Amino acid sequence: MSNEFVNKKACVTGASRGIGAATAVALARSGVQQVVIHYHSHRKGAEQTLAAVREAGADGVLVCADLTTSCGIHCLIQELDKNCQGLDILINNAGALIQRAPLLDYPEELFDRVMTLNAKSVWFLTKAVVPHMLRNSGGVIVNVTSIAARTGGSIGAVVYAAAKAAVSAMTKGMARELAPKGIRVNAISPGTVDNHFHEAFSNRKMLDSVVAATPAGRLGTDEDMADAIIFLCSQASRYIHGQTIELNGGFYMV
Ligand SMILES: NC(=O)c1ccc[n+]([C@@H]2O[C@H](COP(=O)([O-])OP(=O)(O)OC[C@H]3O[C@@H](n4cnc5c(N)ncnc54)[C@H](OP(=O)(O)O)[C@@H]3O)[C@@H](O)[C@H]2O)c1
Repeated sequence: MSNEFVNKKACVTGASRGIGAATAVALARSGVQQVVIHYHSHRKGAEQTLAAVREAGADGVLVCADLTTSCGIHCLIQELDKNCQGLDILINNAGALIQRAPLLDYPEELFDRVMTLNAKSVWFLTKAVVPHMLRNSGGVIVNVTSIAARTGGSIGAVVYAAAKAAVSAMTKGMARELAPKGIRVNAISPGTVDNHFHEAFSNRKMLDSVVAATPAGRLGTDEDMADAIIFLCSQASRYIHGQTIELNGGFYMV
């Protein structure tokens, strides 16, 4: 890749581990000058991401916020207003299932937290960041949705799937509204990535059954996801707007 990312500034939400951490480091390796590293509970992981970002030659800043609440979203927006002058790239990656629960046992409070973290935060963080990008004459936004948006989600993950489907729809609407202003919006849709997400919410049997049904013969890695995000941030994807790239080893072909 050329040096197109030199002097660029990026923000990655949920960069304390997994896809977000790999993306923050990949951006730094690609030449981005500064990375805003958002995290919630895993401070140590965020510090490790920051160390790797610095090792790759970029600078970074850590920002903590719980995105399951409106209050947490506003906290992060305030921090971004301080740290996002000149922001060029936003990766809306933070997300989680939070808890598996079937319809008949699904508490209203869990519905609100899942929707706020996975969908509402994407909308309002983008709303907060776009004015900074406009002052900068453009930018790139990559959202992280999920295969669940297409399948309706695995057992007990229906509201999470609905939140991710909202992100896929927002990706198109944002792209349509922001393309004329010089901001490109796209998304990646991971299948099953072998990381902390599934340590928390799946078991080995579930993962083995996915591998067996995957033409590529393996689960995804954080780096598989980060590489596609870098592509969507790069000039190589300059004519791609409002698309969601499915990254699942062929498990689900659209
Ligand atoms: N792994 C998969 O198979 C898979 C599949 C489809 C889509 N995805 C999506 O990919 C994205 C990244 O997930 P991942 O696979 O990298 O999982 P992960 O390793 O569990 O990382 C999730 C990230 O989101 C952050 N996060 C979680 N709860 C949060 C909260 N309440 N407030 C703010 N941030 C929070 C975490 O921060 P802390 O750790 O600091 O709390 C962490 O940095 C998510 O949007 C996820 O839904 C993942």
